[in-house]
Amino acid sequence: MNVAKPGLSPQIISFQPRGDHRGSLIAIEGSKNIPFDIKRVYYIYGNVSDVRRGFHAHKDLRQVAVAVSGSCKFLLDDGENKSVVELASPDKGLVIQGLVWREMFDFSPDCVLLVLADEYYDESDYICDYSEFLRAAKLKNEK
Ligand code: TYD
Repeated sequence: MNVAKPGLSPQIISFQPRGDHRGSLIAIEGSKNIPFDIKRVYYIYGNVSDVRRGFHAHKDLRQVAVAVSGSCKFLLDDGENKSVVELASPDKGLVIQGLVWREMFDFSPDCVLLVLADEYYDESDYICDYSEFLRAAKLKNEK
């Protein structure tokens, strides 16, 4: 049984759009307008409707997620608190760091979810089992 309480406060960064008569541009620079140097960029797109993905936590990874097109929702869960955040604007970045379980869902058909990360892809950094995540979060919260 999941005993997480609601209330985890998500950290959102507002990026400054450089707009003019031609349209808009946002620049993201590592350790300037996001809180880490960027080692990896990936994007999720062409999502099948009603798909839910993620279902993992990272042991040690910092990420910022931006819906550069369309919208999607994130469920964030630190083992004690849960929060649902909607990303629906290219000028908003969701910071995901620490031991946080994440699930992404409600992707609009045009959603392109850009993710910036401070480390290269490393399978061994993933916790994909929710019970294992809860144990790790409990240990961490006891420290
Ligand atoms: P997956 O972890 O299933 O995505 P999500 O967490 O959004 O559900 O990743 C899909 C595939 O892509 C999987 O085979 C791992 C691979 N992958 C990389 O090679 N590099 C990466 O940076 C990421 C995030 C995934």
